[in-house]
Amino acid sequence: MDSKQIKHKFFEFFSGKKHEFVASAPIVLKDDPTLMFTNAGMNQFKSYFLGTDKAKYQTVYNTQKCLRVSGKHNDLEEVGKDHYHHTMFEMMGNWSFGDYFKKEAIEWAWALLTEVYGIKKKDLYVTIFEGFEEEGLEKDQEAFDIWSAIVDDDRIVPGNKKDNFWEMGDQGPCGPSSEIHVDLRSDTEKQELPGRELINKDHPDVIEIWNLVFIQFNRKADGSLENLPQKHVDTGMGFERLSRILQNKVSNYDTDIFQPIIKKIEKISGHHYGTNEEKDIAVRVIADHIRAVSFCIVDGQLPSSNGAGYVVRRILRRAVRYAYNFLGINEPFMYKLVDVLEQQFAEDYPEIQTQKALSQKVIKEE
Ligand code: SER
Repeated sequence: MDSKQIKHKFFEFFSGKKHEFVASAPIVLKDDPTLMFTNAGMNQFKSYFLGTDKAKYQTVYNTQKCLRVSGKHNDLEEVGKDHYHHTMFEMMGNWSFGDYFKKEAIEWAWALLTEVYGIKKKDLYVTIFEGFEEEGLEKDQEAFDIWSAIVDDDRIVPGNKKDNFWEMGDQGPCGPSSEIHVDLRSDTEKQELPGRELINKDHPDVIEIWNLVFIQFNRKADGSLENLPQKHVDTGMGFERLSRILQNKVSNYDTDIFQPIIKKIEKISGHHYGTNEEKDIAVRVIADHIRAVSFCIVDGQLPSSNGAGYVVRRILRRAVRYAYNFLGINEPFMYKLVDVLEQQFAEDYPEIQTQKALSQKVIKEE
């Protein structure tokens, strides 16, 4: 499946389960003092979780442009060095605002991955929250029991607060989560060491693909947790990772999502990707960062010397520094990559097309 088909299958699946489509929120946040950039699909639904607004539809799905470069979720330093973290990435998700809860979320995620996408069951592991006594949080036995009816118990791995209790920031809606991980190692490696031992251990081929969060608390400014009036589901699946798996690649950058940008960088730099690790890292950094910078600009956040604008400036400069140091590019070139983004993204995020000239101009001048 190409990446567009992969996304379409996700949409089709949840639309078939009576979910409504909701468009991606902007990547730049202007109305939430706790967050500079959208870091997850659930951000735009915060007020529904808190109960201060009523959702138009109780069950929805979407694809959200996210950025994880500041605050609680910051992957910037991994980007380019590894093959599966990104600054800007797309997260596909389904939500229930006070409608279904753990059982449906878990069963549907499993059905989509194994029946629709055809991922082998023997390669999948799941995690559940082990509890955190200090805050009076119990082990998520309910999630364990639901999974236990689907997979062998030795595939259910308990996880701590860091990995299995999702919070969007220092404040806001949160709750225990259950993640689905995939083991993409060779059969020999799998025989030597079961995938279970490598969950959340930063192994490049044993990675999380889908996080199912059971939102039931609000983290308040004083750090305490209060129960929300209703229970909700917030799931997020990394689109680039899923595409890597389904396209049988060893790197997100080898998928049809990144290849067109990489081809263009090869053309500009004269470096053939895959022939020199140091230069390849530079290519990956550039391929990643151009997406982040363009999406911020088309959503109205220009590079500047403070706040969110400074984050955008730093991302762009990081890419340029890698280009200059490792690929020997010493003239403005990042703006030339914007065209490629349009081909890739215009369908789901039309602003990348309508604001293209702005993005090219700002990047060139910066
Ligand atoms: N909010 C969760 C995450 O970002 C699930 O969508 O991982």
